Amino acid sequence: MLKIENLHVSYGNIEVLHGISLHVNEGEMVALLGANGAGKSTTLMSIMRLPPPEAPRVTAGSITYRGVDLLPVAPHIVVAKHGIGLVPEGRRVFGNLTVFENLKLATYARKDMVQVSKDYERVFSLFPRLADRRNQRVETLSGGEQQMLATGRAFMCGAKFILLDEPSMGLAPLLMQELFKVLKEINRSGATIFVVEQNANIALKYAHRAYLMEAGYIVKEGTAKDMANKEEMKKAYLG
Ligand SMILES: Nc1ncnc2c1ncn2[C@@H]1O[C@H](COP(=O)(O)OP(=O)(O)OP(=O)(O)O)[C@@H](O)[C@H]1O
Ligand SMILES: [Mg+2]
Repeated sequence: MLKIENLHVSYGNIEVLHGISLHVNEGEMVALLGANGAGKSTTLMSIMRLPPPEAPRVTAGSITYRGVDLLPVAPHIVVAKHGIGLVPEGRRVFGNLTVFENLKLATYARKDMVQVSKDYERVFSLFPRLADRRNQRVETLSGGEQQMLATGRAFMCGAKFILLDEPSMGLAPLLMQELFKVLKEINRSGATIFVVEQNANIALKYAHRAYLMEAGYIVKEGTAKDMANKEEMKKAYLG
């Protein structure tokens, strides 16, 4: 579904991704693991084709999605036409709007209104906490609830392929489990998921496969089970 080959990415003159290759098959949940500064968010931003000033610049290699070259594609087309949704680091929800208004904004490009109303019901059943708070202003939600909202929003934009940037960040262990269980359910119901995580323990518990990134290189890959059993992984990344 997604294929990245020999991708080199720079900010200004500084190269931060040095020729990474990875792929995500339809129906999979794949994790991209690595420490601070490894290049995980840069990888996601490269896929989303985010514009300047934040934009990482691709200098070589390719990103294809269902066989289509994504490099010349504008970011809103990545979302609206290709159905790729990002749950960004730090959530970036609209604090002065309600839960429902935030979800509604995500549907602006959709024309399948029958499916849209089914999707609202689905989000509210996956995240009952959001259902209880649908008319609450988002700035008054807890961090965990905001993370759920950010995830629900990617679902509401009709994404068939969902990218998440460190969804576990700042969540208590129980809430983390709750969120990953829902991600797994979203995955089982047909969405493909690519999740960036520093928390290798939780990601390897739920993902099918994983890649480990260090300083702009992919240094390991394998099934979640194999990765969880690798000695180097245990020492450096698994508690
Ligand atoms: N806008 C930018 N301009 C210049 N350098 C940047 C920019 N954004 C990121 N970098 C650098 O690129 C490298 C990779 O950053 P990136 O944000 O992709 O790491 P990460 O793996 O997501 O880390 P973290 O787990 O801390 O979020 C880092 O060295 C970072 O300093
Ligand atoms: Mg990051």
